[in-house]
Amino acid sequence: MVRTNKQVWRKKWNDRREPVNAFARTVLRRLGDGRGRTLLDVGCGIGRDSVFFATNGYRVTATDFSESGIAALEAGKQRRGLNMRTMLHDTSKRFPFPDGSFDIIYAHLSLHYFDDRSTRKVFAEMHRLLRKGGMFFVKCKSTDDAYYGKGDRVGPDTFRHGHVRHFFTKNYMTSVLQDFDILSLRRSSSFFHGKTSGFVAAIAKK
Ligand SMILES: C[S@@+](CC[C@H](N)C(=O)[O-])C[C@H]1O[C@@H](n2cnc3c(N)ncnc32)[C@H](O)[C@@H]1O
Repeated sequence: MVRTNKQVWRKKWNDRREPVNAFARTVLRRLGDGRGRTLLDVGCGIGRDSVFFATNGYRVTATDFSESGIAALEAGKQRRGLNMRTMLHDTSKRFPFPDGSFDIIYAHLSLHYFDDRSTRKVFAEMHRLLRKGGMFFVKCKSTDDAYYGKGDRVGPDTFRHGHVRHFFTKNYMTSVLQDFDILSLRRSSSFFHGKTSGFVAAIAKK
């Protein structure tokens, strides 16, 4: 049975609870406490990083198209008494926020699911949503990943294996960030469940 990306993530977030990601700590190391600054967590999943940002003084808006992810975040938010906006939203669609709404946009492993045309539209939308001088933290799966090349090829560097993943190179990340100033661009890898996970991460400024 071929499941849509949305069905895959609904099941995953029903089953999992995980700690804050290292990339979220990078934001805090770089920018310090939020002090009321606005942050959009795109493709937040169950919002483990959203909660981390909110508890560190950021005014967080967290979006995902997975009902189970957003429901888990809503429950956690109520339990902790956090003031945070959560929203079911498909990242490939225009966001219902005015230009320049956010000081920071954070996308951890949530923007490598789209074909080239949609990816460029999504990055242009991130640019629209950031205020001038705002910062974009983005980390995507890379072509070094163990799943690269597995399953059916459905586009350049894009494969359907369970669900669709579009693997980034540093050059590709550079090209989709063409409207930003890139402050940092790094490849990294880690060993996860016995497999290599490859990543490209960027910090960029509008
Ligand atoms: C690898 S998880 C990362 C979640 C979270 N950022 C984290 O690091 O814990 C990818 C997330 O992207 C979301 N996602 C994938 N495609 C999406 C889309 N088109 N619109 C909104 N969310 C999407 C999934 O539902 C999932 O929660």
